[in-house]
Amino acid sequence: MGCQMNERDSETVAGILEELGYRPTDDRDQADFIALNTCAVRAKPMHKVFSKLGELRRIKQQRPNIIIAVLGCVAQVAQQEIAHRAPYTDIIVGPRNYSRLAQAITAVQTGADLITVTNTSEVIPEGLPVARTTAISAYVNVTYGCNNFCAYCIVPYARGPQQSRPAAQIISEVEQAVAAGHHEITLLGQNVNSYGQDLDDDCDFADLLAEVNRVTGLKRIRFTTSHPKDLSPKLLDAMAGLPKVCEHLHLPIQSGDDQVLERMGRGYPYEHYRRLIEAARERMPQMSITTDVMVGFPGETEAQFHNTLEAFREIRFDQAFMFKYSDRPGTRAAQMPDKVPEKTKQVWLEQLIELQNETAHQINEQLVGETFEVLVEGPDPKSPAKVRGRTCTNKIMIFPGDEKLQGRIVPVTAQQAFLWGFLGEIT
Ligand code: SAH
Ligand code: SF4
Ligand code: F3S
Repeated sequence: MGCQMNERDSETVAGILEELGYRPTDDRDQADFIALNTCAVRAKPMHKVFSKLGELRRIKQQRPNIIIAVLGCVAQVAQQEIAHRAPYTDIIVGPRNYSRLAQAITAVQTGADLITVTNTSEVIPEGLPVARTTAISAYVNVTYGCNNFCAYCIVPYARGPQQSRPAAQIISEVEQAVAAGHHEITLLGQNVNSYGQDLDDDCDFADLLAEVNRVTGLKRIRFTTSHPKDLSPKLLDAMAGLPKVCEHLHLPIQSGDDQVLERMGRGYPYEHYRRLIEAARERMPQMSITTDVMVGFPGETEAQFHNTLEAFREIRFDQAFMFKYSDRPGTRAAQMPDKVPEKTKQVWLEQLIELQNETAHQINEQLVGETFEVLVEGPDPKSPAKVRGRTCTNKIMIFPGDEKLQGRIVPVTAQQAFLWGFLGEIT
């Protein structure tokens, strides 16, 4: 569950399990080990964890020797609740502690009761195993954790302080992924723009991109997430100048209102955000811009919400991940007065989604007839004679073709627009 960091972590966990002799299965009634890698960012994914754990109760009753592990962000922030509500859980390990997972499994195999490892100040070591689950694209962490403590956000509590990986280690992981057949790398961090601030050398994220760009055989570089307070003109120049770096920027705005942004502790007013987008588009007129936003932050008024709508009209995002604010116990926002009623949040969310869908549709509609370089990821799961890939701007393209195209970059003309991308034809 959760974000790309969790997806990458799951690949580490899979690697650790394989080293212990486990093999993956799709059938959970066959499994000797089941792990949930969990997300705590909003109440909903957190509820999902407890309902999944409820389902696992039956399996544990039928086969008491099965090992059940709860990993990830909920493991970190709600270990007591897990142990209380699902006492049949064998292992609880937080996202910072996978280097100790193998040991925990061995201990449970030899009779230990519940093993809990939740230490967010642990330094994540290099060299943990990885069993990648994607064919074409590969995730590579540049930083772990986050130092920003935005008022609403649980992530710094779940993942601990920022730890940047040494550039040489990142490059070596990229080289290994390319040697294993991956064509595209997505560099991951909660705020990639603060990469390196905690290292001794003076390699920043733009310098790192330049180094990754030099890796032979690599076709495309993506990264996520950028934080508006730290995004530098130097990074925009790097994006524009480095041929492998995709022209797509995911830049969470969170709100279009200065007072709300201030209370969120985001560290920028709307005008700063708007200028960044302007600067990015000046350098890369074709680029796509996506964002995260939430409605109904504590104390948010109708007029403040309208500033978010206005910002969306002005900027015109290609895509947006839109959320209702969700109280996270222990965060500053959870203590703030004037919580916005659920019903209001729902109405606002629907208004924003409607506006965004209209914009996305218009943007893609205008691109019909244009030809894009598409990196083919594989057969389209929904239509047998078609393949699916992504444009440099991160839009999905589905078009007639066969498996042999997988991993190749081909020119495809967009013929029909959707919210998520296009149906097209190879040119
Ligand atoms: N590091 C990234 C975001 C990680 S969380 C950044 O700084 O932008 C992904 C998204 O979830 C956030 O961008 C935010 O829009 C949303 N989110 C985080 N906490 C939330 C909360 N308490 N309620 C609703 N949405 C939240
Ligand atoms: Fe959360 Fe803010 Fe860190 Fe993003 S930058 S993970 S929103 S605290
Ligand atoms: Fe969720 Fe943790 Fe990612 S809370 S969004 S899995 S960092």
